[in-house]
Amino acid sequence: MKNVYIPNIVTISEIREETPDIKTFKLIFKDKEAQRNFNYKPGQFIELSVFGYGEAPFSISSSPNQQNFFEITVKRVGDVTNALFKLNEGNAVGVRGPFGNGFPTHKFENKNILFIGGGIGLAPLRSLINFILSNREKYSELTLMYGARTPKDIVFKKEIETWKKHVDVHLTVDVGDETWKGTVGVVTVLFREIEVNPKNTVAVMCGPPIMMHFVTKELLKLGFPEDQIFLSLERLMKCGIGICGHCNIGRKYVCKHGPVFTYKETKDFLETAI
Ligand SMILES: Cc1cc2nc3c(=O)[nH]c(=O)nc-3n(C[C@H](O)[C@H](O)[C@H](O)COP(=O)(O)OP(=O)(O)OC[C@H]3O[C@@H](n4cnc5c(N)ncnc54)[C@H](O)[C@@H]3O)c2cc1C
Ligand code: FES
Repeated sequence: MKNVYIPNIVTISEIREETPDIKTFKLIFKDKEAQRNFNYKPGQFIELSVFGYGEAPFSISSSPNQQNFFEITVKRVGDVTNALFKLNEGNAVGVRGPFGNGFPTHKFENKNILFIGGGIGLAPLRSLINFILSNREKYSELTLMYGARTPKDIVFKKEIETWKKHVDVHLTVDVGDETWKGTVGVVTVLFREIEVNPKNTVAVMCGPPIMMHFVTKELLKLGFPEDQIFLSLERLMKCGIGICGHCNIGRKYVCKHGPVFTYKETKDFLETAI
């Protein structure tokens, strides 16, 4: 039996700088069969190891429609991410996964989708948005609300421009600068700019806990049913596969039962979850 803790080896084939402290890494399995067998859903994550430094979970930020590679988008915060940022194209890292449930895209079909992202939280939503755009006819109106700290902290800038052809995009920054002509304020201010019909709309969000807390409150006020609000949660993780117990919230393991939950599923322990 294969040891579930032994990673596959992948090569970093491209590194793109998104912001001063966020980079997107394009990864390709060394073993061609492992690459072919790497099937994932938007919203799933991998455990990435930088040899000699450790392992950490990252959402897959590319769409499953890309079959010859996959991407992660990483913010430099600590040991593993600092070590990853020192690597170059051509270097190897370890990958376990994909793990987690991912977004239930079949439940989004024929519905309007309101994507709400904060900071690096746009990474799993990018996977979902690109997946949905490549199956556009199955979904109704698409709206994105995205907030970053400053204009320099906005990720996927070029791609957001291309999304604008199909997605009603609304951006905000906490603090503007001389280049910024758009909205200033936390992401909830964008509710003033959009019109949503909660009856046929699902809301899908990922971002800092405080953002998800206030966005959820606003969605409930607008009349969104509790099972139409989807949150992608983060927790400290080790195994990623429901064994070690590091990531539990209430009776759920975020790595195995999540990271995507409906508000209905999480509301009993919401104060600790978001
Ligand atoms: C499902 C999932 C998906 C994720 N997706 C992404 C993604 O797409 N992109 C991304 O950039 N990140 C993502 N993360 C977050 C990422 O896994 C963490 O930031 C990870 O800790 C980075 O590892 P590190 O070794 O670089 O940082 P660490 O050394 O673990 O430090 C991370 C931060 O946490 C603090 N910290 C560390 N240990 C403790 C502690 N014991 N108590 C309090 N604070 C502590 C550090 O000071 C630092 O600010 C995801 C997490 C989960 C669970
Ligand atoms: S990370 Fe080990 S149980 Fe979730």
